[in-house]
Amino acid sequence: MLIVLLGPPGAGKGTQGDLLAAKLGVPKISTGDVLRSAVREGTPRGLAAKAVMDRGDLVPDDVIMSIIKDALGAPAAANGAILDGVVRTEPQAAGLARVLSELRRPLDAVLIFEVADEELVRRLSGRTVCESCQTPYTGREPGSTCEKCGGRLVRRKDDEPEAVRNRLAVYQRQTAPVIEWYRKDGARLVTIDAVGSTESVLRRALSALGVNR
Ligand code: AP5
Repeated sequence: MLIVLLGPPGAGKGTQGDLLAAKLGVPKISTGDVLRSAVREGTPRGLAAKAVMDRGDLVPDDVIMSIIKDALGAPAAANGAILDGVVRTEPQAAGLARVLSELRRPLDAVLIFEVADEELVRRLSGRTVCESCQTPYTGREPGSTCEKCGGRLVRRKDDEPEAVRNRLAVYQRQTAPVIEWYRKDGARLVTIDAVGSTESVLRRALSALGVNR
C-alpha cells in the first residue's frame, strides 16, 4: 500500500507512520527524518536545509522531489510505503504524481490527521526526541534518557515557540491547499480524528483505510 500522511506539525504523522509501516510491512519515508539526518551528518543538502528547518519554513520543492524519487525507486519500497510529511505543497503533490506514474504505481490513499491547534502546541512544546534513535516523547525533560536505546533526549530547534507558530502558519498557507489538490485529482481522501491514545488513533486509521490485519 502507498499512503500519503497529511496533517499539521505535531498531528502524529511520524508516530502513526511508524505504526502503520510496521502493520503493513512497508517502509516509512519521512522527508523530515531524511533532512534531519543530513543536518546531523553535515552534508551539503543538510547544511543548506538547516536554517530553513530551524525557523519552520519549507525547504525547496526540488530538494524534496529528489529525496522522494530516490526513496520510492529503492527496492525497499517496491511493495509500498507510508509517506510521512512528504507532500507539503501543490508542486510536490504534482511531482509525486509524476514519479508514481513513471514507476506505474497507484497512490492508495491520502490519510489526513485532524487535531486542534491548542493540542498541537501542547504536544510540540512538550516534545523531546532521542538524539540517537529519534524516538519522540511528550512531557520528558531534555537530558532524560531514551527508553528504547538509552540515548539522550533533546528539544528540536523547530519546537521553540516562534518556530511552532511559523510552522502552523506555513501549514495553513502552503500545505492545507494540497488537500483540495488531491480532492480535484480524484484521490481517495481519508480523514481521521487524531486525538486520543496512539493505539486508538491507529485503530481509527486502519479501520478508515479498510485494513483488517
Ligand atoms: P517534519 O519532521 O515532517 O515535521 P512536521 O510535519 O512539522 O511534523 P512533526 O514531526 O513535528 O509532527 P508529526 O505530525 O510527525 O507528529 P509526531 O508523531 O512527531 O518536518 C520538519 C521540517 O523539515 C519542516 O518544517 C520543513 O522545514 C522540512 N520538511 C520536511 N518535509 C518537507 C517537505 N515535504 N517540503 C518542504 N520541507 C519539508 O508527534 C508529535 C508529538 O506528539 C510527539 O511528542 C509525540 O510523542 C506526540 N504524540 C503523537 N501522537 C500523539 C497522541 N495520539 N496523543 C498525544 N501525543 C501524541
